[in-house]
Amino acid sequence: MAERRPLLELKNIDKRFGGIHALKGVDFDLCPGEVHAIVGENGAGKSTLMRILAGVYRPDRGEMYWEGRPIQLHSPKDALDHGIAMIHQELSVMPVLTVAENIFLGRQPTTSAGIVDWKRMFAEADAALKRLGFSLDVRKRLEEYPLGVHQLVEIARVITSGAQVLIMDEPTSALSPKETERLLELVRELARQGHSVIYISHFLEEVMQVADRITVLRNGEKIATLPAAETSKDELISLILGKEVSFFKEPYEGKVVVEETEPHEVVLSVRHLSKHRMFEDVTFDLRRGEILGIYGLVGSGHFELGKAIFGLWEYDEGEVFLDGQPLPKGSTRESIDAGIAYVIESRKQGLFLDAPIYQNISLAHLNRITGFILSGNQEVTVAQQAIDRVGVRPNNPLLPVGNLSGGNQQKVAIARWVVFPPKVFIASEPTRGMDVGAKEEVLKILRELSDNGVGIIVISSEPETVLAVAEHILVMSKGRIVADFEDVEVTKDMLLDKA
Ligand SMILES: Nc1ncnc2c1ncn2[C@@H]1O[C@H](COP(=O)(O)OP(=O)(O)OP(=O)(O)O)[C@@H](O)[C@H]1O
Ligand SMILES: [Mg+2]
Repeated sequence: MAERRPLLELKNIDKRFGGIHALKGVDFDLCPGEVHAIVGENGAGKSTLMRILAGVYRPDRGEMYWEGRPIQLHSPKDALDHGIAMIHQELSVMPVLTVAENIFLGRQPTTSAGIVDWKRMFAEADAALKRLGFSLDVRKRLEEYPLGVHQLVEIARVITSGAQVLIMDEPTSALSPKETERLLELVRELARQGHSVIYISHFLEEVMQVADRITVLRNGEKIATLPAAETSKDELISLILGKEVSFFKEPYEGKVVVEETEPHEVVLSVRHLSKHRMFEDVTFDLRRGEILGIYGLVGSGHFELGKAIFGLWEYDEGEVFLDGQPLPKGSTRESIDAGIAYVIESRKQGLFLDAPIYQNISLAHLNRITGFILSGNQEVTVAQQAIDRVGVRPNNPLLPVGNLSGGNQQKVAIARWVVFPPKVFIASEPTRGMDVGAKEEVLKILRELSDNGVGIIVISSEPETVLAVAEHILVMSKGRIVADFEDVEVTKDMLLDKA
């Protein structure tokens, strides 16, 4: 790899957003057939650098070279013309179309009469997928396949349309372990076939497994570029954070003891809750000050369960009681008033990206804040305290949430609920997209809330997250609770095994 001439070079890239210096003279290069990972804290500048490379943003300063020749990218189309494509988290595939149509979206092969040549399209789509190492029924509608497959199809589409460089920004954050494994294999296969991949992730194990080289950004600066084979996870963490730390040691390295819950009174009772095709006969109790983890793979029904308890969805059967009182179903307003808080797993749905941070925080508490008669200024002050507490950066409550990096947006979603602690906090994938340091901060906040008597449900598909905080763990699979761990030793493998 080292002798190879870079396909793409970025030199001295600088980018500011108003007062924020997002990239400070960053150098980056990419070789043919290489997987180059970028890691760094939330807000370090990873996505900004990639948006520059994908033609979304213009740098304020710096040069870009393609095979040694200077290039300028004025738009995403410019980048695509150079063979640089970004796989976005909001995929552009069309679930109602067949797999083959998705692969050839907008450029279907046609017969001499000018109509779509279905036979050829199916055959070519099939061949394209086989070349990438997986086989799907290309005549099936994409919606019949799970989300992880949609992403593979999107990648196949981009590759068959001629992309040479593929940018993936946190591609596995919504995938199951199996889907993640398949994606990593595909990334390696793409590299073997001569494509170059830029891979951004907070999951350092994945990064170490898939990358040839790893670049660390911190605070807009390039800190290091290292061959993956010559570094370790601990070294990466200290480079990312700029200090020596070792988080999550226990859960990552094996087992945790899930301790018996203190005999506090039950705050939330869920009884025989069912929703057609989502979850079935779910029953559990949550005590004051308890952190209950609900672990499951994507699609196991655990996210849906959280939504139903909070009232985003109605359930078909069963009951929920808060402090012994039946909780009306299907009303988030009544749930919030009764003292239930909720963080949704997809932050784009849970936040108003165009609105300032402080409004995103106060909107969740409209009743309470007007009850306390907070003025606009007080709203800002309260928001300031909340975002300082969870470490949102930049910590200016007047900024629109959409200007924050992905992980910092997620922190705002949590910050909402530290202002006036609820009785019950349902946090669905609370640390998604967060760097190692931020994850630890958020888990600490959850522990603090629980010490103050808040009953917490952490719903997650990341075993580490559940193992790191929960005192009681339920595992869901195919809509049902299939395991219940309390007062026993639990390992990551045990969770994966049950799920
Ligand atoms: N459109 C924008 N307007 C204003 N500031 C922005 C904009 N996009 C990014 N920023 C700021 O630039 C900095 C870098 O953000 P970026 O999204 O590149 O971080 P990141 O490394 O991708 O973080 P994460 O891991 O959280 O996704 C952050 O301080 C962010 O708030
Ligand atoms: Mg980002």
